[in-house]
Amino acid sequence: MNTRPIPSTQEALPVIGCGTWMGFDVAAASAGHRRLADVLDALVATGGKLIDSSPMYGRAEAVTGQLLEAARQRDKAFLATKVWTSGREAGIAQMEQSFQRLRTERIDLMQVHNLVDWRTHLATLRGWKDQGRVRYLGITHYTASAYADVEAVLRAEPLDFLQINYSLDAQEAEQRLLPLAAERGVAVIANMPFGGGSLLRRLREQPLPGWAAEIGCASWAQVLLKFVLSHPAVTCTIPGTSRPEHLVDNAAAGVGSFPDEGFWRRNAASLP
Ligand SMILES: NC(=O)c1ccc[n+]([C@@H]2O[C@H](COP(=O)([O-])OP(=O)(O)OC[C@H]3O[C@@H](n4cnc5c(N)ncnc54)[C@H](OP(=O)(O)O)[C@@H]3O)[C@@H](O)[C@H]2O)c1
Repeated sequence: MNTRPIPSTQEALPVIGCGTWMGFDVAAASAGHRRLADVLDALVATGGKLIDSSPMYGRAEAVTGQLLEAARQRDKAFLATKVWTSGREAGIAQMEQSFQRLRTERIDLMQVHNLVDWRTHLATLRGWKDQGRVRYLGITHYTASAYADVEAVLRAEPLDFLQINYSLDAQEAEQRLLPLAAERGVAVIANMPFGGGSLLRRLREQPLPGWAAEIGCASWAQVLLKFVLSHPAVTCTIPGTSRPEHLVDNAAAGVGSFPDEGFWRRNAASLP
């Protein structure tokens, strides 16, 4: 799988990761839980690393922590989670809980979820980064109505990562946020590359266009991920999945080259 450098350190990050919203919120000892062990195995086997979670995602952090510990794969993962509450003490308590749930002493990336009380949490996180408890810090959002606020924080604060929605059916981040992230030396994690799943469900009803094979894509999922990764400011993307066969499908989009902007402009008209 291709990697891209995290601008603040030049550490290489594999371009396809795994989101845990919904898919990882499962009961222990359920069939879904056992399947997630295969999802994480597939992530590691295909060269992926980044797992993105949040205390907002129910049991997802705890499930991720249990599975990584059971498979002894903590050191193979780049663990990203979030803080999603208000107030310094509440933020600290929630992040301490994330360390416990993820069963780790160091979180690779801690993000302020949807900018909730970002000033407070970034102040805490800068101290934790100095102590080595978190390696990188960032902010996240998922909707264009928040982009003006996201832009203001990107301009005001030194950040390692921006996580933002970007997909074939939601390209607004191209206008200001992606160029600004590149200018500020901030890595970008593209979330919701399948529009939360609805875009992919719609496209899967249609045959793949002839040009998909030209760019090495055997599925609509791969076309959508190649699109996201074609933007030079995007460092990686985190399709959410609870199925190992989908993880393998997605990971294949991280191999080979990525078409340029002109390719997508020329072929946009033939998209259903
Ligand atoms: N504000 C924020 O910070 C924020 C907001 C939104 C998302 N996120 C993060 O970004 C991640 C991705 O976003 P998302 O999960 O909302 O949406 P998404 O990645 O756009 O789509 C996920 C959906 O696509 C399906 N899928 C995945 N791979 C597939 C494949 N190869 N073939 C067919 N279906 C496939 C999944 O179902 P299966 O389980 O059946 O594969 C799931 O229903 C989240 O999981 C979360 O970690 C963060």
